[in-house]
Amino acid sequence: MTKGWTKSDWRTKPRVQMPEYPDAAAVAGVEATLSRMPPLVFAGEARKLKQKLAAVSEGRAFLLQGGDCAESFSEFSADNIRDTFRVLLQMAVVLTYGAKVPVVKVGRMAGQFAKPRSAATETVKGVELPSYRGDIINGFDFTPEARIPDPARMLQAYTQAAASLNLLRAFSTGGFADIHRVHSWTLGFAEDDKAERYRELSNRIGDALDFMNAAGVNADTTSAMSTVDFYTSHEALLLEYEEALCRVDSTSGLPIAGSGHLIWIGDRTRQPDGAHVEFCKGVQNPIGLKCGPSLEVDDLKVLIEKLNPENEAGRLTLIARFGAGKVGDHLPKLVRAVQEMGARVAWTCDPMHGNTIKSASGFKTRPFESVLREVREFFAVHNAEGTIPGGVHFEMTGKDVTECTGGVRAVTDGDLSSRYHTACDPRLNASQSLELAFLVAEELSSRHGMQRAAAL
Ligand code: PEP
Ligand code: CO
Repeated sequence: MTKGWTKSDWRTKPRVQMPEYPDAAAVAGVEATLSRMPPLVFAGEARKLKQKLAAVSEGRAFLLQGGDCAESFSEFSADNIRDTFRVLLQMAVVLTYGAKVPVVKVGRMAGQFAKPRSAATETVKGVELPSYRGDIINGFDFTPEARIPDPARMLQAYTQAAASLNLLRAFSTGGFADIHRVHSWTLGFAEDDKAERYRELSNRIGDALDFMNAAGVNADTTSAMSTVDFYTSHEALLLEYEEALCRVDSTSGLPIAGSGHLIWIGDRTRQPDGAHVEFCKGVQNPIGLKCGPSLEVDDLKVLIEKLNPENEAGRLTLIARFGAGKVGDHLPKLVRAVQEMGARVAWTCDPMHGNTIKSASGFKTRPFESVLREVREFFAVHNAEGTIPGGVHFEMTGKDVTECTGGVRAVTDGDLSSRYHTACDPRLNASQSLELAFLVAEELSSRHGMQRAAAL
């Protein structure tokens, strides 16, 4: 990692999208408290995730990353965590079957609280207030008091993240993740009349599991069938929080972000000489980098060199988010630049953030069709370039919300108002998430078919 780097160097760099706290002494007090707290994750876990992401970059594994756009204090409950985790596991079973490689499971969970915003203020009925920036920074309520950045929120976010991780760790190893159990939930979806086209794939997964069971591979004999490795991730936006949870790994003597296993740099905060890149370049966690339509080839090259100077596989995941219909204009040149550099990166597709629109009824939404189309375009570019489509990144929830339109149990524009609960961007609901997993699995299986045909 970068020699001579310190965890507070970011303070000397230009910063964007971060709050101006009115009370500096209160911020310093919170930072002091947080820096005495245990880290939420341990360096060995982040290293293990890095190895798995190295496999993703080489096509030996597939990355599934998903969860809330913004976790919130008011929606925090064991049921919500369980439901999101359950849908991620269901998606992973389906994707494993399609990809024929292990699926690396990473939640946008236990730390995904801070939000970059397109506009600094919001106007409602002629009243202008500072934008909501996520529960770790200010409040969602449209009042002047709620919108003042409050550093004490960092402590609440830390506590919520710790409690969430505790439950996730219990679910991962305590029997909840038994693959037969997970598949029976998936089967429930495929048996729905409207999801008929997924029945065959689901039955094939069931047959494969029956076969393994008959061959003696089951939860009693193999922990791989009953437990999962599950990792956490979030956007490293609020650098006061990140710095306060940064620790030195006693094994390697190197700095590690203790706030989550993987942290990413958002599309609005990836300035090569900015504060966010400065912080992320010095910690040894796996790093994600959002790549949107404004990312130039030269900037990407500089970012790769800064963030992964040793060209370590698994260190850097590039998260493409261009919008349906725009992938072909942007992704090929970036993919080629990466190839020319010989840079080892994992490429994944976030089909959410380039596809946000305002519906006729006034809600921020994402048409399921556009989400799907962007995934297909992402695969098509990698197929054409001979590179590896390594994974997918979604905003989703285990609840039956109506935030994105479309899907087999079609959510219409008129339905959006009925269960629109997100604190920020619209999320796929449980059914839409699973449908997407089936569609990606089909895409992955046809890729295998093509590869097999090419090898003959
Ligand atoms: C996000 O992932 O919630 C986000 C804000 O993404 P982006 O930086 O790609 O816009
Ligand atoms: Co979002």
